[in-house]
Amino acid sequence: MRRTNYGFEKRQKDLQKQKKREAKLEKKRLREAPPSPELEELLQLLFAEGRTLGAEFRGNAEEEGFHAFAPANYDQVLAALLPHRATGGLFLEWGSGPGVITIMADLLGFDAYGIEIDGGLVEASRALAERFNSSAEFVEGSFLPEGYQWESADGSQRMGTIGTAPSGYPELGHNLFDFGTVFGYPWGGEEAMMIDLMSTRGSPEATLLLHTVAGTIDAYQGGQLR
Ligand SMILES: C[S@@+](CC[C@H](N)C(=O)[O-])C[C@H]1O[C@@H](n2cnc3c(N)ncnc32)[C@H](O)[C@@H]1O
Repeated sequence: MRRTNYGFEKRQKDLQKQKKREAKLEKKRLREAPPSPELEELLQLLFAEGRTLGAEFRGNAEEEGFHAFAPANYDQVLAALLPHRATGGLFLEWGSGPGVITIMADLLGFDAYGIEIDGGLVEASRALAERFNSSAEFVEGSFLPEGYQWESADGSQRMGTIGTAPSGYPELGHNLFDFGTVFGYPWGGEEAMMIDLMSTRGSPEATLLLHTVAGTIDAYQGGQLR
């Protein structure tokens, strides 16, 4: 007679569901609490490693020619991210470079993802995430969704330092519309493209945080400056 083990399988499934619920609750608790001194210290270590990595990449790139990577002001990004922590949800970094900002978002309790066009930087960001015990995820590709075409007010399609590659969203398993908070650090003159991309392909409820070359971090929602 064939024996079935439905009871055991059901218990396993229930256990898995409970683990997922607990992990979600833990992330929610993490988001609602102000960063603890331990977390602040961990973030400062992350920023220091990120600055070293950034300097190495810029040094190598200068030998090989121009590279569009320039690191953000991490303390300023932290201050800009904190007010969005309570709502949490999915976080995406466009052009995640060495991954510091995506890892910071993960440590703050977001479900954090980064898309980066440079394979070397993607490798470095995955290694950095591992060192900081972070579950931030990185994919190599373009943050431009398939079929997106940028046309500025003067009709120009110039993208400046935005490179072309297959879109990274299919590998992420999410569309741009799924993300509640998106961070981008465009080169001067590329801000309008990022604002357009977010307002045409992102959720109207989502916040776009733009780190400008002037050093400010501007928050947009539905294409409008908040
Ligand atoms: C100014 S750096 C910012 C790096 C990081 N977000 C930070 O703020 O420290 C811009 C990054 O975007 C990447 N990038 C350029 N075009 C891209 C594209 N189409 N898709 C994904 N990444 C891109 C560059 O390789 C570079 O690492």
